[in-house]
Amino acid sequence: MKIKIPIEDLKLNTVIANDVYNEDSQLIITQGTMLTSKVLDRLKLFSVEYVYIASETDDEKPFTETEDFIKFKKDYMDITDSIQKSFNGIIEKTISEEELEQTVSKCLELYTSFSSSYSIFDMLHHMRDFSDSTFVHSVNVGMIAAIIGRWAGKSEYEEHLLLSCGLFHDIGKLLIPSEIINKPDKLTPDEFEIMKTHAQKGYGLLDDLNINDHIKKCALMHHEKINGSGYPQGLKGSQIDDFAKIITIADIYDALTATRVYRGPICPFDVIEIFENDGFQLYDTRYMLVFLQNIINSYLHSQVQLSNGESGEIIMVNTNNLSKPIVHSGNDFIDLSENKNIKINKIF
Ligand SMILES: [Fe+2]
Ligand SMILES: [Fe+2]
Repeated sequence: MKIKIPIEDLKLNTVIANDVYNEDSQLIITQGTMLTSKVLDRLKLFSVEYVYIASETDDEKPFTETEDFIKFKKDYMDITDSIQKSFNGIIEKTISEEELEQTVSKCLELYTSFSSSYSIFDMLHHMRDFSDSTFVHSVNVGMIAAIIGRWAGKSEYEEHLLLSCGLFHDIGKLLIPSEIINKPDKLTPDEFEIMKTHAQKGYGLLDDLNINDHIKKCALMHHEKINGSGYPQGLKGSQIDDFAKIITIADIYDALTATRVYRGPICPFDVIEIFENDGFQLYDTRYMLVFLQNIINSYLHSQVQLSNGESGEIIMVNTNNLSKPIVHSGNDFIDLSENKNIKINKIF
């Protein structure tokens, strides 16, 4: 099995397990090259962010059976249990400040255990198959929002605060009848009106707690849109809390890429296309751009399945059309921006 390693974490004398291309699709390093300081300099010169190396310990195992992933999954499920207990404690007003802090610290510990934002996305991407609860969604949104904050140049304090904002953004959903939350079909207009109250209800639950104001505002404002078309208050632009603008992007991305009872997960490249087409009217442009550019880079060198049945490796990002990268398949280089009838169906 090949694993993705950021350039800064590479050790000399490792064998590179993929062909590496520059921005003009020219081959700069061939698969099987030993990493010397000269090769490393060349990778840095071309601003390559990571390469693949052969995993020594988990050869041929699927990613979800690797030691790293099994440990991540265990820690992750522990955290979602703590979140569930904390949410119930908040609703019943029995939670202590220490307990709340412990839950947040556990999540922060997992988040900070990763050396690169790309490896967190890899892990979250593979958690998809295991659960679809509000608690898993909450942890995902927290981690994705923190990463967007990091990409956007927020301070470490703000990055960690975004993690908490994500953890608690949907707490109000626990006050919505479960038959609406778990309904396998599309909600009726009346049911949707009830669902929408989770934002105000979440704010109500958090309002009494001694926590940062941004966490409370994110629960209230994470469904607002910058053009005023969101809910509950129809706020516009600068009326929306800056942290909530980031939570909104993380929230939509996670909700769309998750498996739902009534549909499979939407491929991240389709979600990126949705964001590219409509995102700039609805979400903050600064954060949207930072998110799209970086999320695409996180999938560079991923193996993908195309709608024409072929599979290949994403070798280059098309900066003018982020959802349509160039894929190396067999002996072909398929530019998806020029082959609009072919799309990415699945990322492995
Ligand atoms: Fe929500
Ligand atoms: Fe959400």
